[in-house]
Amino acid sequence: MSSIAVLGAGKIGEALLSGLIRAGHQPDTLSFTERHPGRAKELAGRHGVDAVAVAEAAVNADVLVVAVKPQDIEPLLDDLSGSVAERPADRGLPLVVSLCAGLPTALYESRLPPGTPVVRAMPNTPMLVGEAMSVISAGSHASEDDLSLVEELLASVGRVLRVPEEQQDAVTALSGSGPAYFFYLVEAMIDAGILLGLPRAAAAELIIQSAVGAATMLRGSESHPVILREAVTSPAGTTIAGIRELEKHGVRAAMIDAIEAARDRSVELGRAHEGTGS
Ligand SMILES: NC(=O)c1ccc[n+]([C@@H]2O[C@H](COP(=O)([O-])OP(=O)(O)OC[C@H]3O[C@@H](n4cnc5c(N)ncnc54)[C@H](OP(=O)(O)O)[C@@H]3O)[C@@H](O)[C@H]2O)c1
Repeated sequence: MSSIAVLGAGKIGEALLSGLIRAGHQPDTLSFTERHPGRAKELAGRHGVDAVAVAEAAVNADVLVVAVKPQDIEPLLDDLSGSVAERPADRGLPLVVSLCAGLPTALYESRLPPGTPVVRAMPNTPMLVGEAMSVISAGSHASEDDLSLVEELLASVGRVLRVPEEQQDAVTALSGSGPAYFFYLVEAMIDAGILLGLPRAAAAELIIQSAVGAATMLRGSESHPVILREAVTSPAGTTIAGIRELEKHGVRAAMIDAIEAARDRSVELGRAHEGTGS
């Protein structure tokens, strides 16, 4: 079993660690790096996994999963580039898996020793409950075996899809940010329930269960969402009255614009690091 170090054990990093343990990875094959000693101790206690220094992870682990915020990548890459170069020749190069929004594999390739395999992955927060949508792309030195290994790791916390790297900014906007848009819709629908006089707790239960039910139908059905919606939209009924308002307020166009703006921001985040390679 490969040894895996998670660099930056925040929300996503910790969710991955706990998913890997649930999937049967032995805690002694896992490690993480964390800047705050207090949090490192807490995580080590919670998962039975060792906290290590970045340099130690870079020399010893087979797989380095980068899970820091994109804006924290530069100092981490500085640390990694020197330490990876110090690996004993018989250990070979580590596989680097970046979970960072917007950061291209070329950034890592320009800073790490030549030939370092890099896989870019975009997960989302439902990873916390084992229901992530993760999308992976190979950098120029990543092999089929590398992609399969990353697929297997991320399958422990949800579903995994492969796309060419040029589609990753779109993926970031759709499934990376997607859960936030569903939360936003649910929040707005609960507000509507309150406006109509329902207690907040009742409105929340009605909407959350409707969201879970609708998601389960979408996953279980071969039908396009339009067909599922038409099935609850009867002539001169209540649903069509509501849908007319959604169309009048341009909700469909707003959603498309929102996702396009998220894609543009992902491109911008990647560009912020252009030219920082050697
Ligand atoms: N959250 C999401 O929905 C989501 C979805 C898809 C992808 N992602 C990606 O996942 C990555 C992590 O996101 P997150 O939400 O988990 O962020 P987070 O909770 O802030 O976690 C990042 C962790 O990395 C630590 N860190 C920063 N620099 C470090 C270093 N040099 N060495 C060791 N630890 C370091 C941070 O410590 P401090 O507390 O000291 O800052 C923090 O604990 C991001 O790149 C993000 O783009 C997130």
